[in-house]
Amino acid sequence: MILVTGGAGFIGSNFVLQWLATEGTPVVNLDKLTYAGNLRNLASLEGDPRHCFVRGDIGDRALVAHLLEAHQPRAIVNFAAESHVDRSIRGPEDFIQTNVVGTFHLLEEARAYHAGLSGPAHAGFRFLHVSTDEVYGSLGAHDPAFTEATAYAPNSPYSASKAASDHLVRAYHHTYGLPVLTTNCSNNYGPFQFPEKLIPLMILNALRGQALPVYGDGLNVRDWLYVDDHCSAIRRVLAHGRVGETYNIGGGNEMTNLEVVKTVCALLDEARPLPAGRSYASLIQFVEDRAGHDRRYAIDAGKIERELGFRPAESFESGIRKTVAWYLDHPAWVESVTSGEYVKWVAAHYGT
Ligand code: NAD
Ligand code: TYD
Repeated sequence: MILVTGGAGFIGSNFVLQWLATEGTPVVNLDKLTYAGNLRNLASLEGDPRHCFVRGDIGDRALVAHLLEAHQPRAIVNFAAESHVDRSIRGPEDFIQTNVVGTFHLLEEARAYHAGLSGPAHAGFRFLHVSTDEVYGSLGAHDPAFTEATAYAPNSPYSASKAASDHLVRAYHHTYGLPVLTTNCSNNYGPFQFPEKLIPLMILNALRGQALPVYGDGLNVRDWLYVDDHCSAIRRVLAHGRVGETYNIGGGNEMTNLEVVKTVCALLDEARPLPAGRSYASLIQFVEDRAGHDRRYAIDAGKIERELGFRPAESFESGIRKTVAWYLDHPAWVESVTSGEYVKWVAAHYGT
């Protein structure tokens, strides 16, 4: 079995679902269920004895020690994090607590557990840390894409906290011999993404006839990867990655935010046409830029392709079509995540 942390969030829940559908071995899923964690994402696993959900904090050392002892996992896959840049700008504290201190506590317990293993269990154990391309900082329009050798230069409290956690993971390998793997991935999109992030926010605002807030000039560039491809890449790294190495994961889809938003609008125009031939794109509004907004991220995914033979299966065109269709087909999920705390966040962040 494996221990997944943050498996009720966007990528973690997609990973748990994919894992059980493919590898099929049991998963213990440790998640604090912050605003971003949602057990509805895992509703299809109800009654599945291979999935054991535990509500708790990765920083709770006694709980983590107990779970490791009781379940004897062969790997820990660490998704648990505070993940939203805008929230980190308004309130960095939780980011330091979970992403830095929480990861540290998880590493400490993983180290103690690994030290107590012997034989094949000791040799085969892995700690896979899921991280982001944002640790590398911002690129100019003509700079080469991030490689695993690019120096870290995080610019937001979020990316700084992820960078700190990556460094701790690295140090636990170098110093204590913990068999770690780190992945640094670009922007994900797909089912179950909380609608504070660009793509689901735009889909849901458009359907409600609300403004589509594009920060600054809308020309910031991100690389986009369909979430299932990210999960497949993580499985590949877990199975075949070289211990102590980091692997960049990307979609090869660099786009400006404006291009992404216009693509979403065009798909909605097709699926849910507005009266009189109006386009959802007419809802686009340029709003005040994000503080310290990184201009461009781009991933050189050559290493994972060369060493592990991984390439994404989905193009942006096919992935975004599936994603828009998923949000249209799941109004109950949308309803469940767009009440309460989320409404307060939107009011605080975007004003009226
Ligand atoms: P998310 O915010 O949707 O989910 C995070 C999950 O972690 C939630 O279920 C939350 O309840 C849980 N969690 C938060 N604090 C916790 C704690 N202290 N203990 C246990 N659980 C806790 O995030 P996501 O988009 O699914 O991202 C998952 C991971 O992937 C993060 O580490 C993030 O940095 C990384 N990542 C995300 C992207 C992206 O585009 N979303 C890209 C690259 C890397
Ligand atoms: P986001 O989904 O928050 O991911 P990240 O900041 O981790 O890349 O944002 C993606 C891009 O979209 C980023 O350049 C900021 C921009 N953006 C907007 O223009 N408007 C919005 O309302 C949001 C949430 C993001």
